[in-house]
Amino acid sequence: MSVRLRDSNMIEGDCHAQHGPVITSLEDLQAHLHRVFDGENVNIEMVEMLMSSYKSNSHDWKKYAKFDQYRYTRNLVDEGNGKFNLMLLCWGEGHGSAVHDHADAHCFMKILDGSLSEVRFDWPQEGENEETGLKELSRTLLRKNEVCYINDSLGLHRVENTSHTEPAVSLHLYCPPFSSCSMFDQRTGHRTKCQVTFWSKYGERTNYNTKTENNNPPPEDN
Ligand SMILES: [Fe+2]
Repeated sequence: MSVRLRDSNMIEGDCHAQHGPVITSLEDLQAHLHRVFDGENVNIEMVEMLMSSYKSNSHDWKKYAKFDQYRYTRNLVDEGNGKFNLMLLCWGEGHGSAVHDHADAHCFMKILDGSLSEVRFDWPQEGENEETGLKELSRTLLRKNEVCYINDSLGLHRVENTSHTEPAVSLHLYCPPFSSCSMFDQRTGHRTKCQVTFWSKYGERTNYNTKTENNNPPPEDN
């Protein structure tokens, strides 16, 4: 599968697609996405337009919205016939990700509830970040129904629910799907590989081994 991508500077920050099909529900969005990803070439502009056209309705997605007391959760909604992953991320008050990359994938993030802060960073340069830390590129507050896009050519980012009173929920599409990415120490630029996991799949809590989880702290991921 090849992916057509318009100029990345144009897509970045373009949070409101001008025109697009009417998307009536999350299920309808999934059906449209499956059609878009059906062919050999995938139009990334169209994916962004579809994500933007859907207006969040909690009745559509509440069955996937599973929160954890301590950290944000990743909840699989659709495996996209192996071509994309669609998932709900649930952020409790103050929950945030590590600084991370996106494993050469395209990443779309749409806010379904609450708001999220996105801070972008430049990639660490050999020997230059030990004392200065990662260089911040931008800082954006994303509000309900807004969509943002990132890939590795645009840098790294950290996502956080900065609210102390409101949870947040976001819908993420990754194309192609990936099971590991890198996270970065913001103060030194040091890179660590990490596996990404699902807290639930299709609305059901994923089986997990308590002993294993205790021995291996949950990975920071996207
Ligand atoms: Fe991310």
